[in-house]
Amino acid sequence: MTAVIAAKNLRKLFGSLTAVADVSFTVKKGECFGLLGPNGAGKTTTIRMLYGFSPVTAGTLELFGMPFAENLRAIKLRIGVCQQENNLDTDLTVNENLLVFSRYFDIPREIARRRARELLEFFALGHRSEAKTAELSGGMQRRLMVARSLINQPDLLILDEPTTGLDPQSRQQVWARLEELKNAGLTILLTTHYMEEAARLCDRLVIMDRGQVLVEGKPIDLIRRHAGREVLEIVQPDGRMREYIARRGDAFEDLGHRLLVYSQSCEELFTELGAQFSAANCLLRMGTLEDVFLRLTGRELRE
Ligand SMILES: Nc1ncnc2c1ncn2[C@@H]1O[C@H](COP(=O)(O)OP(=O)(O)OP(=O)(O)O)[C@@H](O)[C@H]1O
Ligand SMILES: [Mg+2]
Repeated sequence: MTAVIAAKNLRKLFGSLTAVADVSFTVKKGECFGLLGPNGAGKTTTIRMLYGFSPVTAGTLELFGMPFAENLRAIKLRIGVCQQENNLDTDLTVNENLLVFSRYFDIPREIARRRARELLEFFALGHRSEAKTAELSGGMQRRLMVARSLINQPDLLILDEPTTGLDPQSRQQVWARLEELKNAGLTILLTTHYMEEAARLCDRLVIMDRGQVLVEGKPIDLIRRHAGREVLEIVQPDGRMREYIARRGDAFEDLGHRLLVYSQSCEELFTELGAQFSAANCLLRMGTLEDVFLRLTGRELRE
């Protein structure tokens, strides 16, 4: 089957800065694919190349099986984009924002009206359709951005941090909607800093850093491979505990006030520590995508 996105050795330079060094991935039809990475990793820059906002410096790109540059117009008509920054027209009403946007796709007015109504209902904004966009809360504006990206009934939905700034209720609501869309066969490319979002929505993902892809895989496989099914956290470990862990030879991270042990035998270790020291400051928990992310990209702040 033809890939919806086939990106090979994508590269983007801004003057002397290499924002995207070498990024390759493919996204299959019906998949939700994630681009994860710290601030400045090159996610937005990669995404912008995918919808023609920013020309590629080097590399090859095919969407829907078509070479990108030669088919830009046809490709753009089939993509929906929710950019990282909200760019709604704040002087217009919620409904007008969707209608104005629909003109870029030459959608007949009646059809646009119906779709706008349906999308606003779908994202729980129907009751605010006549409100000025400026009067919406940040979370509602974000939901409107996502709704607007669907006005052309795209075959590929590109979402750059769709749920940033949403409260837990709205985030859950958007996740449920995206799951519905995915189940209906929509292909989605998503960036997010919420690991829970990536683990829940993405069939596959890449973690990138400094313009390079570090790993690619299914969330569950990445967790098994780079964090382990279980992780043992030891809070305020004393010297003897530290020594004990070091002697055992398991992989661990020492954060000073906390040790994180990544081992196939965390459960055993938990029991041992309980017997020899105290289990009071030991926490046995499931490995998460956040563990993977931090192990691969480090803990120091970016930018
Ligand atoms: N138009 C531009 N001109 C110059 N440099 C840019 C431009 N856009 C992005 N950059 C730089 O390219 C690098 C990658 O930025 P990008 O926005 O792609 O990161 P990101 O992974 O989306 O980060 P975030 O998680 O903060 O959104 C950064 O160093 C950024 O400063
Ligand atoms: Mg970004």
